[in-house]
Amino acid sequence: MNIDIEARIKALRDDLHAHNFRYYVENKPSISDYEFDMLLKELEALEAAHPEFLDPNSPTKRVGGDLTERFAKVKHRYPMLSLSNTYSIEEVREWEGRVKKGTNRPITYACELKYDGVAIGISYHQGKLERAVTRGDGETGEDITANVKTVRAVPLQLLGKDFPEDFEIRGEVFLPLAAFAQLNAQRLEDGDEPYMNPRNTASGTLKLQDSAIVASRKLDCFLYGLYGEQLPANEHYANMQAAGTWGFKVPSAAQKQIMLCTTIEEIESFIDYWAEARFNLPFEIDGVVIKVNDYEAQRALGFTAKSPRWATSYKFKAQQVSTVLERVTYQVGRTGAITPVANLKPVLLAGTIVKRASLHNADQIEKLSLREGDTVYVEKGGEIIPKVMGIDLALRPVNSSPLEYPTQCPECNTLLLRTEGESMHYCPNTSGCPPQIKGRLEHFISRKAMNIDGLGAETVAQLYNEGLVGNVADIYDLRKEQLLPLERMAEKSVTNLLEGVESSKAIPFNRVLYALGIRHVGETIARKLAAYFGNIDALSNAQIDELSGVEDIGEAIAVSVRDYFADAQNMAVIQRLKQHGLQFEQAATSASISGTLSGKTFVVSGVFQTYERDDLKSEIEAHGGKIASSVSGKTDYLVAGENMGPSKRKKAEDLGVKIIDESGFKALIQAL
Ligand code: IVH
Repeated sequence: MNIDIEARIKALRDDLHAHNFRYYVENKPSISDYEFDMLLKELEALEAAHPEFLDPNSPTKRVGGDLTERFAKVKHRYPMLSLSNTYSIEEVREWEGRVKKGTNRPITYACELKYDGVAIGISYHQGKLERAVTRGDGETGEDITANVKTVRAVPLQLLGKDFPEDFEIRGEVFLPLAAFAQLNAQRLEDGDEPYMNPRNTASGTLKLQDSAIVASRKLDCFLYGLYGEQLPANEHYANMQAAGTWGFKVPSAAQKQIMLCTTIEEIESFIDYWAEARFNLPFEIDGVVIKVNDYEAQRALGFTAKSPRWATSYKFKAQQVSTVLERVTYQVGRTGAITPVANLKPVLLAGTIVKRASLHNADQIEKLSLREGDTVYVEKGGEIIPKVMGIDLALRPVNSSPLEYPTQCPECNTLLLRTEGESMHYCPNTSGCPPQIKGRLEHFISRKAMNIDGLGAETVAQLYNEGLVGNVADIYDLRKEQLLPLERMAEKSVTNLLEGVESSKAIPFNRVLYALGIRHVGETIARKLAAYFGNIDALSNAQIDELSGVEDIGEAIAVSVRDYFADAQNMAVIQRLKQHGLQFEQAATSASISGTLSGKTFVVSGVFQTYERDDLKSEIEAHGGKIASSVSGKTDYLVAGENMGPSKRKKAEDLGVKIIDESGFKALIQAL
């Protein structure tokens, strides 16, 4: 008997370790949160009943740590605990019963939403934001102040003067659904894989080194807990209302995002309300949280090892329906990436009719061992498009056959390629595959790229079908007499179009670079490459090691850039665009203070006394210097702060790179 139990415990531990890895490291969970929680609960119960099989490294022994090497570690003043959770109303009732038994005074509960994001603790001193720290392992978190400061909902300076001198406020940073959808649309457009869900994206975003990218992601934040010695009230609800008047985004009582309840019936009706109403929220929640309102009563109830007894959470199961997978179709994007799409028998899910679901890539189809005609489970997560989560094998039609992932492009029949380590297939026929050609033209003229007024997607398709444009340089050869005979092309629209083409010649280099549509080169990367290399000739001659030495440019981007410029057809198009007078050189920015550091390359590492790291980098750029992420033979200076990794210093010493500290840097900009 015990042998079976020991084997089950081991199997559960192995499984949960593997799922944790898929979720936190690979960003590719293969089971739902509910299934994960059920496995974890089974393991917790078995371990509690069989302490003889104790393992300090069991998945039950950790509270989802997120510690990495790159941020300074900060010990929490008040430990950052997690919440007990349940999917059963019955267990909420039992919890409420225990709370009532545990104190002898009347109990009021504050019911709130369980925001699905990343927990954060922010400390304020005299009304000014001082520091923002992640949960980490609950005892120690990471200092991500620079990134949190970019979140608009987080006040840097408080309103009024009624706040305590020192306090900490905790809450959840999350990515609203619209921002998530927009980000993924952009990633597909840039030839990058879409992100899995808003929660993981928010967490990954907060861990980025470059807070300029964090700022562009439109994160949001709700605050739900106040900690300190001189709080205005002795109750949670009143304190949150007060925090609202200081400028924090706190759950709105008017919208029932927080509600005081005194009975279990009221708690249950709060849960029932949000089980439906959650689908109308512009962000994801995964349940509700119920807290004892009075701090005295909270203290009396106390904590278990991991979570407070005075609070619990009820989690919603993700909404799932089953339907028939009628057909899998394959879309070809601008960069040649192939996206499989599940075409479903229409079905009602969480208030909308679902006809299509995303399948991501070949791996996922294989993992699910999907076949056309299968009955599939479809789940609505944060994405606007739902996901296929699993299949009901019992309902598989007898005559079905395994899906064969296409080996040829569905549009131009070219053999598809799949690069080692990438999960997507690509059609390599860049110059001859119609959706790729049209997609590139559309991208080139789009608002964030060349912003050509008078030329939209429909006109591009028309010009392509008429044989007037086959690549982006052809746009600049268009003449009035070619356009006038075309359908829907009156004198006025032709003039508009040609004027739009003409004025696009003034668009700055970084946007021209973005407009070229190099795979993985989105707006931010284009800006970095333009700033670092200064002109197209330097960029097109750069080799992999130089490219990947630029901040935020990894190996995949470097390879993609190098391959793009190694292609003679691309170079010919660029040559023609140059002749037409487009900008292929970075103009001096108005923000630049001087050119004293011009031609010098810096690596910045560690924590500084008088600068935020990003401000130091901006200062270097403002004086004409360049920033690289890693030390190489091309580095002139390593600016070393506290807690800098020893390997960076050693490499700089080995290569004879000058190492300067903060005051050395200040001396440098003055001396040069
Ligand atoms: S209170 C000691 N309130 O859920 C109690 N947490 O599983 C601390 N969460 O780490 C948490 N919404 O990231 C609280 N209204 C809310 C919440 C909330 C989401 C998250 C938080 C916490 C996790 C616990």
